[in-house]
Amino acid sequence: MQPTLSVQNLSIEYQARRGRVQAIRNVSFEVHRGEALALIGESGSGKTTLGLGIVQLLPSTAKITQGKALYRRDTLTLDALTLQGKALREFRWKECAMVFQSALNALNPVLRIADQFGDTAKAHGYLQGRALQERAEQLLRMVRLDPERVWKSFPHELSGGMRQRVLIALGLLLEPQLLILDEPTTALDILTQRNIMDVLKELRAKLDFALIFISHDLSLAAELADRVATVYAGKIVEIADVATTFQDPHHPYTIGLINAVPTLRGAKEDLTSIPGSPPDLIELPPGCKFHPRCPLADYRCREQEPELEPIKPGHAVACWQWRSARAAMEKFRS
Ligand SMILES: Nc1ncnc2c1ncn2[C@@H]1O[C@H](COP(=O)(O)OP(=O)(O)O)[C@@H](O)[C@H]1O
Ligand SMILES: [Mg+2]
Repeated sequence: MQPTLSVQNLSIEYQARRGRVQAIRNVSFEVHRGEALALIGESGSGKTTLGLGIVQLLPSTAKITQGKALYRRDTLTLDALTLQGKALREFRWKECAMVFQSALNALNPVLRIADQFGDTAKAHGYLQGRALQERAEQLLRMVRLDPERVWKSFPHELSGGMRQRVLIALGLLLEPQLLILDEPTTALDILTQRNIMDVLKELRAKLDFALIFISHDLSLAAELADRVATVYAGKIVEIADVATTFQDPHHPYTIGLINAVPTLRGAKEDLTSIPGSPPDLIELPPGCKFHPRCPLADYRCREQEPELEPIKPGHAVACWQWRSARAAMEKFRS
């Protein structure tokens, strides 16, 4: 089966006062129908830029310098990066919906929830009147909101968690095949976060959209994703199914991230975060961008950047030292 989205050799830069920020560097990956791909990595690794790039919502200082984002539905194939005008607006709702990091303020404050659904439907020639309301109520129930309570409300009358769920329901209104969620629970308290995660799991079981789930929180990624891509300094450095990512990671950075996750049993003192910080994306170090922080780095790592290479079916790693991954794990712990 053809993937719903196939990102190929995508590079994105920001023009900043100090120079060019290489936020996404030659990234390729695929997401299939019904599949959830998590993008994980520390803050500043390029995850949001990647999401914004796919739907062409980057700020004007950003530039896509190369690559494609091929989107497929049935017999239709298009490059989302080349769409303009009406075609782009249609793509954003009907094919690919997104809920971004700062989404809590994304609802129009002067419109009741009913009108937010009404306007969106109208703009795209979708259902109106009773049929629209029924569809919206069904979606609101799917995200565990009481349509009675929410339908006539203004956004400010709802809690952050409720607004986030309205946005997810609204995003699904036009039945998109691809949903991008950028840190959808970050601004919320733990209980609300739990609730949104349960909603997302239920939605995935009921609908078969492809999902790109962006998170710096590995435990959330573990819960929702089928596959996980680890992003470091604008590049995917490891990609594998979720079980492999957590039980048999081979990139020292993925290993470091996983070691930094508190386990239920583990005492806080066992937590080892990765020493150092991510590189300056304007002046990237030579060789592997992780080498200054890597316990396994040798001369080759300092000079030559490894590309993402398959080491097993469905598991690719960009690391010269992937065979020594176990050793990396020990070194991080000591
Ligand atoms: N508008 C911008 N102008 C310049 N640099 C930016 C801009 N937005 C993000 N960046 C830089 O791009 C890199 C990637 O950022 P981002 O995609 O937000 O990462 P993440 O979502 O993983 O935290 C960071 O180094 C960030 O500072
Ligand atoms: Mg981000």
